[in-house]
Amino acid sequence: MNIVLFGPPGAGKGTQAKKLSEHYNIPHISTGDILRANVRDGTELGLEAKGYMDKGKLVPDEVLIGIIKNRLAEPDCVSGYLLDGYPRTIPQADALTGILEDIGKPLDVVLNIDFTNDELLSRLSGRRMCTCGVSYHIDFNPPKQNGICDVCGGKLYQRDDDKEEAIMQRLEVYSEQTQPLIDYYANTGIMVNIDGSGDIDDIFADICKALE
Ligand code: AP5
Ligand code: MG
Ligand code: ZN
Repeated sequence: MNIVLFGPPGAGKGTQAKKLSEHYNIPHISTGDILRANVRDGTELGLEAKGYMDKGKLVPDEVLIGIIKNRLAEPDCVSGYLLDGYPRTIPQADALTGILEDIGKPLDVVLNIDFTNDELLSRLSGRRMCTCGVSYHIDFNPPKQNGICDVCGGKLYQRDDDKEEAIMQRLEVYSEQTQPLIDYYANTGIMVNIDGSGDIDDIFADICKALE
């Protein structure tokens, strides 16, 4: 299964991606997670990306296109892939089409998690992350033990861009630069809209039904 997960910041892409990647046994490729790992490790890429990310702005297209091209060439993608947070601009989507043509793994489906309301802000400000990629919410999806990851026992942290100013900027960037991709993919006939409101497990069940 070759999937793109699409939706605004806080829609639940990462949350659903974790479940989908286990269910279909395909790698979860989150460009946000890849960039954050580079920031943490202090790589050259991380140093370049951090300034954009903390402000809620997009990292330049050519950087992301390089990341995704390399990642999709890795052997675990032979059985499929789940892209979360890429593409985010028309040039990124065009580049993806070319990359997928080259490797002979065209997209099967674009899942658009449709969620635009005031709850986005509280979802993001209450989010707590683990470096293993799992995200929690202090009220909506709390870990069993306060501040500790259920999966790996790691210490949870708050993302630097989950502060109100950066959140507002990310929402603006989404509507200006990323939302136009909905029309782009709607025209290809492989887009499925999923209602992103309600219970996490119910949304996952809706996604699985749509994929079958
Ligand atoms: P990225 O990490 O991709 O962030 P984002 O798109 O802003 O999306 P989020 O991760 O914030 O939201 P999500 O949909 O994954 O929500 P989640 O499941 O965690 O990108 C970060 C930055 O990296 C960008 O701003 C940019 O700088 C850079 N970047 C990344 N990719 C790039 C690209 N392609 N081009 C350029 N720059 C790029 O859920 C949110 C919270 O809600 C959690 O607390 C969760 O527990 C909770 N929750 C989830 N579902 C529910 C539910 N149904 N009910 C209640 N709570 C829920
Ligand atoms: Mg995410
Ligand atoms: Zn963890």
